[in-house]
Amino acid sequence: MTSTLSELRDLSASSALLKRYQTIRSRTESLIAPLSPEDMVVQSMPDASPAKWHMAHTTWFFETFLLAENVVDYHPFDPAFGYLFNSYYEAIGPRHPRPQRGLMTRPTVDKVLDYRQHVDKHMRTLLESALPDGTAELIELGLAHEEQHQELLLMDILHLFSTSSLKPAYDLRWPKDLSGRRGQFKPLKGGLTEMGHKGNGFAFDNEGPRHTTYLQSFEISDRLVTNGEWLAFMADGGYSKASLWLSDGWAAVQQNGWNAPLYWQHDDQGWRQMTLRGLEAIDPTAPVISISYYEAAAFAQWADARLPTEAEWEAAAEAGQLEQVDNVAWQWTQSAYNAYPGFRPADSAVGEYNGKFMINVMVLRGGASITSPGHTRLSYRNFFGPDKRWMFSGLRLARDARQPGAVNNHDSEFGRDVIGGLSAPVKNLSPKYFYDAAGSELFEDICETVEYYPTRAETGLLTRVSQQIAEVIPEGAALVEFGSGVSEKTRLLLDAAPQIALYVPIDISATALKKAAALLKKHYKQLKVAPLIDDFSRALQLPAEAAGHPCVGFFPGSTIGNFTHDQAVKFLRSAHALLGDEAHFIVGVDLVKDADILIAAYDDAEGVTARFNKNLLIRINRELEGDFNIEAFDHLALWNDTDERMEMHLVSRREQVVKVAGHTFHFSDGERLHTENSHKFTVESFTQLAARGGWSVSGYWVSETPQVALFSLKA
Ligand code: AVI
Repeated sequence: MTSTLSELRDLSASSALLKRYQTIRSRTESLIAPLSPEDMVVQSMPDASPAKWHMAHTTWFFETFLLAENVVDYHPFDPAFGYLFNSYYEAIGPRHPRPQRGLMTRPTVDKVLDYRQHVDKHMRTLLESALPDGTAELIELGLAHEEQHQELLLMDILHLFSTSSLKPAYDLRWPKDLSGRRGQFKPLKGGLTEMGHKGNGFAFDNEGPRHTTYLQSFEISDRLVTNGEWLAFMADGGYSKASLWLSDGWAAVQQNGWNAPLYWQHDDQGWRQMTLRGLEAIDPTAPVISISYYEAAAFAQWADARLPTEAEWEAAAEAGQLEQVDNVAWQWTQSAYNAYPGFRPADSAVGEYNGKFMINVMVLRGGASITSPGHTRLSYRNFFGPDKRWMFSGLRLARDARQPGAVNNHDSEFGRDVIGGLSAPVKNLSPKYFYDAAGSELFEDICETVEYYPTRAETGLLTRVSQQIAEVIPEGAALVEFGSGVSEKTRLLLDAAPQIALYVPIDISATALKKAAALLKKHYKQLKVAPLIDDFSRALQLPAEAAGHPCVGFFPGSTIGNFTHDQAVKFLRSAHALLGDEAHFIVGVDLVKDADILIAAYDDAEGVTARFNKNLLIRINRELEGDFNIEAFDHLALWNDTDERMEMHLVSRREQVVKVAGHTFHFSDGERLHTENSHKFTVESFTQLAARGGWSVSGYWVSETPQVALFSLKA
């Protein structure tokens, strides 16, 4: 017997389909493995179905739409099952009322398993024969249908278990949802775009036809809203401000007494969440799930944003701009579930699959952690009523694109660092952001206060020992100053060491560099000045003018204390690389001393340091559209004896919510925002730090009290 090529192709396609059929059907059986027969019978609410019913209904689908239609003389396993396990197909006939599916003690679970085996046996025979036209597509639909019920089965079991005071775990090893950083808005350009299913693979009818649609430019968050953000919404009275809610949503809040997502409960251990692993503490960095459309829309309103449309969602996902697309929670869109232009449901009974639900429901996109593997697509349209919340449903925010000309610093390094720092479990900001124009002036004012000794003490010391320092500076040296600012202290060194031929000030501020260079050139006619505009902690290359000059580094002002020890080591190593193996490095550090003197220096009586600290919030308000109320924070300076450092914090005077760059942050009463460390050293501790950074101490000088030190390091 000979076979044609196309017959062979058909055979291998149907054996692949048989394999898929068997894999998907047996996955359903593995999902019920952790359940007892009692677990499988009960229905916890009208929207949910018993596990036993899911197992039987998915089998009924294959029996009704495939075996009865295509197998000659097929005898149904039990003719009574047609009534019990038809879900909603009017064309097939009457059915058992949905809210009473939990009353079916018969057939037993064992009988349903027999039913599955019976249908599987006949499906195998069908799949091993030549499939009539259109049958393979219908089997694909049956498999996608079974996968949908696998997810429903897990949703329904979680709902059932959540109603039990025992809070049973379905599976203690069920993977936890991904946690991590919060989302950032990604801008997408508007214009004409295609949406809907493309290609030849399987898709539900509602995903097509692919068609052209128009998008305004928009921004969409690359990640889902987190539990932490949801807690901030709750703490800000999110569930009690009618102004945030759609009218029907507000009615649902009142009627159902909603005050948190569905599976959250509050007790003496705080907020906890029912999961497939049982009751668990809430992870503030994991995405929020099990919220209704109404809640998602209220949150978006509160966050000065909106939900994306499904066209926006699909365009952003296609463009690779989204994370957490289909592995945590379905994402509510603001799109009502409607037919795409040109959509026509099939004339047969399966035409009832999707089309007739295109009313009063909203579209969710993506996929969830409980979605069957490989089930979803970027064009997939899930849909639920706006009040439903037992799904794994979450949200990502979107907003209209900024008007041309509007400033948006959100994606700057400052924006990213601020969002990251305010999202951290211990809120913190880098002290490098203190120095905008106002902050730099305030720092100069700090140096004038009675209490802030380091600048005066260092200047006095430098005046006294500059001759000794000058002895290590070679003839024709290049003096490289890190974070030079206006180069005030430099002049003391230049006066003592006329052998310096070139001065290389490194600073991020071009204005400060220009001013300093002009002034120095006026006073030191022989001196060449080659400024370098760069972040001094990151500079990788000296200007060309420095070639051939022996280098001496200069880093006064005890700014090294503002780094963490690891950052300081990294900085010292990169300074070594920049200055070369023969270099000397003069570094100023503040020394450990009596805590009272230190605290006074960082909390002066005139309140200059407090203004300097709070200026960071003013800067955030201005540059990142923040709404910090400056009066609602107190300046705090404290001595941390363990880490030998002064710390500055801003302390929230009350529970409050702050918005920055479209993100919301919750502060509890008394919560601290850590803004600066200023490490203090002993000769020993600094010698050790220098050694880790590749330098040895060749000499050091200590000022009068309050003591600061200058170290001369050798590479
Ligand atoms: C720039 N730096 C060395 C200062 C310090 O002492 O840490 C910044 C400062 N913070 C509060 N007062 C001054």
